[in-house]
Order: sequence, then C-alpha cells, then structure tokens
Amino acid sequence: MPTFDVTIAGELNLDLILYGLPEQLEPERELLADRMMLTLGSSSAIVAHNLAALGSRVGFQSRIGDDPLGRIALERLHQGGVDVARVRQVSGATTTGLTVILHHEAWRNILTYAGTIFELNWDDLDLDYLADSRHFHLSSYYLQRALRPRVLELFERLKSKGLTISLDTNDDPDDRWGGGLEEVLRYVDVFLPNEREACKAAGTEELEDAIRKLAKLVPLVVVKLGRKGAMAQRGGERFVSPPQKVDVVDAVGAGDSFDAGFLHQYLRGADLTTCLAYGNLAGALSTTRPGGTEAFRDVAHREKFLREH
Ligand SMILES: Nc1ncnc2c1ncn2[C@@H]1O[C@H](COP(=O)(O)OP(=O)(O)OP(=O)(O)O)[C@@H](O)[C@H]1O
Ligand SMILES: [Mg+2]
Repeated sequence: MPTFDVTIAGELNLDLILYGLPEQLEPERELLADRMMLTLGSSSAIVAHNLAALGSRVGFQSRIGDDPLGRIALERLHQGGVDVARVRQVSGATTTGLTVILHHEAWRNILTYAGTIFELNWDDLDLDYLADSRHFHLSSYYLQRALRPRVLELFERLKSKGLTISLDTNDDPDDRWGGGLEEVLRYVDVFLPNEREACKAAGTEELEDAIRKLAKLVPLVVVKLGRKGAMAQRGGERFVSPPQKVDVVDAVGAGDSFDAGFLHQYLRGADLTTCLAYGNLAGALSTTRPGGTEAFRDVAHREKFLREH
C-alpha cells in the first residue's frame, strides 16, 4: 500500500488579497483597501491543502526561498496535514513567489512575482517519494518553467510505477499554449481545465470542439464552468453537474478546490457524477471565505458546509 493517495510537485507561495479598492486604480495616488488577507496561495499548494482537509493523504514537493513568506506558506501547508518533508528551502537571490490580488466587484487584477516558482526543477524532485502514491497531480504547467521540459519524462516514470495522473494547466501567462502540452496530455488520466483553458489547450474557440479534441487525447476531461458548475467528457459520454448556491466572498482558488474535491472522490473510486458534485461542493466551499484555503482550514465551517449542502 503506497504511503500517499496523492503526491504533488509544484509551487508554494502566499496570496495577498486586497478588497474594497476604488474601481479606478489611479497612478501615483494613495489608494485604500478596506480589508486584506494574507493566505496560502498557488494552485499546487491549494490543491494539496484542500485534499488533505477532505481526508486524502498528500505528499508535496516544492522549492521555496529561505525567507519569511516562504516559511509562512510552508507552515500553513504543514498545519493543513500535508507532508512537506521534501519541500526544499533554498537560500539565494531568488525569494519565494508572491501573488497580489486586487479584488474588485466584477473582476480582479492578479499580479504574480514568480520567484522560486520558475526555479523548481528536476533535481529538486525525489522520484521515489513522488511514486510512493496512488496518484500524481500537477498544477500550473506554464509556471513550472524549469520543470516543464521534463514533465513528459516525469509523467512517463510515474505512469510506469502504476500511478494515475491529473493535470490542471491553469492559465498560460504568455497565452501561447505550446510547450509540448499535447504530448504531455497523452499521459494524463484526468485533465481539469476551466472553459477558457479547455479552448486554448485545444486551439479552438468553441468549447464543444475543444472537448471533442481533448477527449481523443485524455480518457477523462473535466471542465470547470465557474458559477455554472462543471461538466465531464469520458469518451462519448457526457456528464453535467449543477453549481451549489452560495454567497461568494471571492473565487480565488475555487478551481483548485474543485480539483481537490473531484480527485478526493475519484481516488475513492466514486462514480463520475459523485466526483463532479463533490468538485462543485469543494469549489463552492472555497468561495465562502477569502482565498483558496481559509474555508477548508476552519474545521467547524467546513464540516457544517459539507453537511448542509
Ligand atoms: N459563483 C459560484 N457559485 C458556485 N460555485 C462556484 C462559483 N464560482 C466557482 N464555483 C465553483 O468552483 C469551480 C471552479 O471555478 P472556476 O471555473 O472559476 O475555476 P478556475 O477558473 O480554474 O479557478 P481558479 O482561478 O481557481 O483557477 C466551479 O466549477 C464551481 O464548482
Ligand atoms: Mg484554475
């Protein structure tokens, strides 16, 4: 029996979220926010944290700087029940990354200093540790700049050890959507894009076209539809799942929380309808508190929400 249900290699950093800023961000003015939250950020870390909160056994590898923000992020993940023994803290000029989110009513600015995110590389990984699991998940494909050229090799190795693999590319900051994604997808069992990312990854503007193309490469394509819920395509079969009704604080990390909810059930062998519903439940739970992990960290809140929805 492997030590972990899921291993993840990826970014670990904090999100600094500012709420209540003026809608117009005028240059050179002192602009006031009315609330702020410094919280665990980064897709990989949010998926790991929330999978552990739901009860999966999670091992995590990353590279962070030897700096205060890196230490806070690491401590959060550790407190969340994730095994962080293989996270490397490297001192040097590059510090741990940081994302600043300026939250407006209808939209957000997302500003990222990548820092050590761009530096995580093959030599930081312990393949035996990652393989000691039933499943491997990779997030933020286009932020893993140093690792990306060897992701194909990583997936090949882990597949040969019998793990299943899931991928959530998230956005490509360069908006090019190359980088060998199509080859990598051939090793993926579960692909977890949102609507826009599905279209970009398939190189088409039509979601249905995109799904048709992607479903030829990946056995299970799961598309997150934001406030419209989610859908999945398994070969010729289509599954749709309605969203939960919630009072949304922010949608930061909702997609990553969806991934955690979906994968938690997938790894228990649940049917696809249950996996999708649980993904939506986890995504919705995430929106009830700032950032991607606050709603999962508060045990009483989390359990009440999961009981009542
Ligand atoms: N307003 C909402 N009401 C209910 N559920 C929501 C809402 N927004 C998001 N969700 C849930 O969260 C899931 C993921 O949201 P979304 O489609 O925004 O993912 P994403 O774009 O990958 O997000 P992220 O920014 O975290 O990467 C949705 O599929 C849904 O289950
Ligand atoms: Mg996403």
